[in-house]
Amino acid sequence: MTGIAPILLGWYDRYGRDLPWRRTRDPYLIWLSEVILQQTRVAQGRACYERFAVRYPDVVSLAAASEDDVLLLWQGLGYYSRARNLLAAAREVTERFGGRFPRSAAGLRTLSGVGEYTAAAVASAAFGEPEAAVDGNVSRVLARLYDLTEPVDTSAGHRLVAALARAELDPRRPGDCNQALMDFGALLCTPAAPRCDACPLAERCLARAAGTVAERPVKRGRTAVRERWFHYLHLHCGGDTFLRRREERDIWRGLYEFPMIETDGPVDFAAVAATPGFRCWFGAAGWRVAGSVVLPPHRLTHRVIHAAVHRLEPGNSFVPPEGWLRLPSGRLGEYAVPRLLERYLDAEDPCR
Ligand code: ADE
Repeated sequence: MTGIAPILLGWYDRYGRDLPWRRTRDPYLIWLSEVILQQTRVAQGRACYERFAVRYPDVVSLAAASEDDVLLLWQGLGYYSRARNLLAAAREVTERFGGRFPRSAAGLRTLSGVGEYTAAAVASAAFGEPEAAVDGNVSRVLARLYDLTEPVDTSAGHRLVAALARAELDPRRPGDCNQALMDFGALLCTPAAPRCDACPLAERCLARAAGTVAERPVKRGRTAVRERWFHYLHLHCGGDTFLRRREERDIWRGLYEFPMIETDGPVDFAAVAATPGFRCWFGAAGWRVAGSVVLPPHRLTHRVIHAAVHRLEPGNSFVPPEGWLRLPSGRLGEYAVPRLLERYLDAEDPCR
């Protein structure tokens, strides 16, 4: 039987999404879109892409950006290591490659944050390299088409899917083949309610023939989720408050947050105030707590963050520890903060 590429490309030419990064062959813009879309849906990523493309129209301008500004533009997308890698890679392209992106997938993979998937997506779309880009959407489409029983989230399963994707690639239009499979997964072969009635590959789909569409792809299972408990201290000092930058090797490095005490479990404010960290900051000066807000659990890939914000008025003799940033509350919007704090601040003052 012939491959699926003619059917796939025919469908894509008619129904594929018209997206700004598909109207260019500029490797910088294509790379930018792929980094943004790694863990973000198109509807949300598109606005971020436009922000970056306007503010930093080429790799040299992005390389000269400050990390604070990149994180601020990235705000709301989460997985901030992607934003830090974006900046690092822009600087690598500028310094190591004279401002020109490497033209092969292997060369692209030497850049920070560029893995197998992103390298293949950029090399195929920008340079016409016959590289298959396999993400979750593509794995799902191929696992159903071939009714794969191998879990797709193991290295053996991934290799199998990648080999099938390579075999199905039309070397004359490798970038479009990759984009077509992505759209197929996003528009037709969706996780929960696939539209097999509208699918031009339905007749060839082995999972459909076997009645196993809902069971494909097989996954080995999720890794354990770790729970953490964060207590943010929203200080009120006249009209001012305090932020600190997260410098540790941990989630959200480089973002700003209210001073925070982490505990090993769910505790109330009295227990927070009894911790050595809190007593070291406020013990001598005294304080008054003006209320606490428990935030909805914040889910990340391998963690759940249980956060509370305690509104605190420190005593007059309070001396902020080194590194804390004092600022008028009205200027909080100038700093990139984790999404859960952004939501808290929006709820507090919807007009900010
Ligand atoms: N997801 C990842 N890359 C994408 C792309 N180029 N277009 C649409 N969705 C995507």
